[in-house]
Amino acid sequence: MTSATTTDGTSPGPDLFDPLPLGAATCQNRIALAPMTVAYANPDGTVSDAEIEHYARRAQGGVALVITEHFTVNEAGRQLPRQTVVDREDKLPGLAALAEAVHEEGALIVAQIGHAGRYAGPWDRYEERPRLAPSAVPFTLLPGRIVTPTEMTTTDIARTVADTAAAASLTRKVITAAIASGATACAITSAWNIARFLGVSSSCGATAFTRIPCGRSSISRMRVKWTRAALLTP
Ligand SMILES: Cc1cc2nc3c(=O)[nH]c(=O)nc-3n(C[C@H](O)[C@H](O)[C@H](O)COP(=O)(O)O)c2cc1C
Repeated sequence: MTSATTTDGTSPGPDLFDPLPLGAATCQNRIALAPMTVAYANPDGTVSDAEIEHYARRAQGGVALVITEHFTVNEAGRQLPRQTVVDREDKLPGLAALAEAVHEEGALIVAQIGHAGRYAGPWDRYEERPRLAPSAVPFTLLPGRIVTPTEMTTTDIARTVADTAAAASLTRKVITAAIASGATACAITSAWNIARFLGVSSSCGATAFTRIPCGRSSISRMRVKWTRAALLTP
């Protein structure tokens, strides 16, 4: 479908149903599914049949780009019991089946990976293990329930960044294996953990990273750099 022309002869820009080049691949139209958590994974974090059906149906309905819900990069960052975990090779067959089912419906898929940080679950047992945050600043988790997360050490920060890059590398393996066009992409959800280092309300700790403004942003920059490198490495 080509774009229409306005009465004064100017182009209104691309049509919603025009194809959209995306790297080496092309989206069939400009409709994308926003990441929305449904948490249909198996309890061990592998992709379930229900999850595959859920995303394949979105693609069947005409969405050209499926952005998955937030998949966690490790157990420390897991928010929900039925959340998909992208931490080891044993998750690859399920992820590959998911990518393949979406591609069969003519859509591209992007895996959103992230770490829930201070929002990691289960919330009913919040105090049982450390919930990682830039600083141990109390906050309202639920109405009437104030909790205090644990300040990340430099090792915690390095592990989270490395696990994000490793998860990107794993998702890349299945996407390239399952799609002939060679499109690889990875969306990193940033609001919950690493980006918290940028906010003064959640980050007032004494680590070298939070003392100076460029130290705070260096973690986000480091994560993007490492993840990008993981995606580009053959
Ligand atoms: C039930 C639900 C689950 C969501 N899960 C995620 C998620 O996993 N990752 C994410 O980045 N955003 C998530 N979002 C945010 C949506 O992607 C979207 O940005 C938000 O709903 C704002 O878009 P809207 O104004 O069109 O509703 C979720 C939203 C809803 C309502």
